[in-house]
Amino acid sequence: MIRFLLNDQPVSLDNVEPGLTILQYLRTTLGLVGTKEGCAAGDCGACTVVLGTLETGRIQYHAINACITPIGSLHGKQLLTIEHLQHQESLHPIQQAMVDCHGSQCGFCTPGVVMSLFAWQHSVQQGVAVVDHHGIADALSGNLCRCTGYQPIFRAAAKVCGAPAQPQFTDLAAQLQALQADADGEITCGDAHFFCPTSSAELARLLADRPEARLVAGATDLGLEITLQLKRLPVLIQTARVKEMLKLEDTADALYIGAAVTYTAMQTKVEEQFPAFAELLARLGSRQIRNQGTLGGNIANASPVGDAPPVLLALDARLHLRSLDGLRSLPISQFFTGYRATMLRPGEFIESVEIPKLKANEVLKVYKISKRFDDDISAVCFALWLKLDGDTIADVRIGFGGMAATPARAIHTENALRGQVFSEASVQAAGAALTRDFQPLDDLRASAAYRLAVAANLLRRAWLEWRSGETVQVMTWQPQVRHA
Ligand SMILES: Cc1cc2nc3c(=O)[nH]c(=O)nc-3n(C[C@H](O)[C@H](O)[C@H](O)COP(=O)(O)OP(=O)(O)OC[C@H]3O[C@@H](n4cnc5c(N)ncnc54)[C@H](O)[C@@H]3O)c2cc1C
Ligand code: FES
Ligand code: FES
Repeated sequence: MIRFLLNDQPVSLDNVEPGLTILQYLRTTLGLVGTKEGCAAGDCGACTVVLGTLETGRIQYHAINACITPIGSLHGKQLLTIEHLQHQESLHPIQQAMVDCHGSQCGFCTPGVVMSLFAWQHSVQQGVAVVDHHGIADALSGNLCRCTGYQPIFRAAAKVCGAPAQPQFTDLAAQLQALQADADGEITCGDAHFFCPTSSAELARLLADRPEARLVAGATDLGLEITLQLKRLPVLIQTARVKEMLKLEDTADALYIGAAVTYTAMQTKVEEQFPAFAELLARLGSRQIRNQGTLGGNIANASPVGDAPPVLLALDARLHLRSLDGLRSLPISQFFTGYRATMLRPGEFIESVEIPKLKANEVLKVYKISKRFDDDISAVCFALWLKLDGDTIADVRIGFGGMAATPARAIHTENALRGQVFSEASVQAAGAALTRDFQPLDDLRASAAYRLAVAANLLRRAWLEWRSGETVQVMTWQPQVRHA
């Protein structure tokens, strides 16, 4: 059975299909139709709801996409929808600001926008976000609005989100704690099951006993199999409570990231150690996707356009893989074996990722090229790691996404650079070697010729930045917040 708070009311749930999404549950079971369905793919944000999660003794509010999130993810959490923001029959201050600033036209995106701003207002209150242009853009990165041009929404956000949050949503921490302890977080429905193990050993045993099971972490890839491909996934095993997969450890030599740690939870640590990687993660999906998605899911999904693998290839990360047979570890360069194929054996899962830290003479550059700045998959993702001896490249690794059937190293290009002075001439010569490494595809994101040209240009950009010590500025759209 799963137990959660719907607003401030405890709910116990069992005997529902594990693939039921939170959105379907809200709209069809509860008749709470304020939360909208736009794309059913995590892209538009119309379905945004807020999950209150107990973190270090207090409740943190995170906006998520209800359309791709299985119902079992609610165990031990507080679910808030647009219907719950009414306060004594009047509008919530965020809703009122949206009215005052003309932030809603057709209104289809509005519940999602309000819920994203609600979560963000609480983050501001808790000191983990600030009210500025960047913060507002981040909070709204997963909410598409076709009508307003965003200016009025930005104005509403700037007007209200620095103000204190509504008091009725505080002090539920003890209740959430009790709910988590009260039930096992599992669902059974005929032949279908949603399991919620809390240790790696338990997870390994479940996977060995149920070879048909699918692992689910944030569900930001897996959820699409349910909503877009209409697959029935009768046995799901959730990783979100497996303690070994939630560790975030910073040692002298490496950063260890548990496979079930969300992008939001790892952001600060990654920023401290690998600022260039953190910049990329800040553009992975949207705020909602980053609140749910995990590094383990990104790697195991083995998409040729996944963003983290190129960086992990450049940094020579190691994957720690667990099964009933024990733990083995593998350099990520050996993990991808073909299009969406990996070295994972039946019954095996990624437990954690070990990323060696940068030394004083090492450089990391990471760039993502996509059609939109936010919430878009890469056409090309590039990561360069260099070990320098003065101006000479003592060693180099280059990871690419979007150039081949798997995330891949550019071995010929690396060989052309190794031992050379890092200069315009060596970068130009190495850029020519890219055609020996890759014959990229033409697809909807970019043509093969574009991909090859941009890949060479990204190498040149890395050299320009290293030479000048400055970041090459990339044009992005910045709505100006004018206060009425
Ligand atoms: C709107 C949208 C935008 C997106 N934008 C980006 C983007 O910009 N860049 C990008 O790289 N990706 C993007 N994605 C894809 C996705 O968010 C990421 O790949 C994410 O990291 C997946 O993690 P997850 O925890 O949600 O994985 P899940 O969906 O839960 O799982 C993905 C797959 O991995 C398996 N799995 C999960 N954890 C493990 C584990 N520990 N061991 C073994 N197998 C495991 C699952 O069984 C499943 O097959 C986007 C997705 C959406 C919906
Ligand atoms: S309905 Fe579009 S993100 Fe969920
Ligand atoms: S108001 Fe119409 S989509 Fe935003």
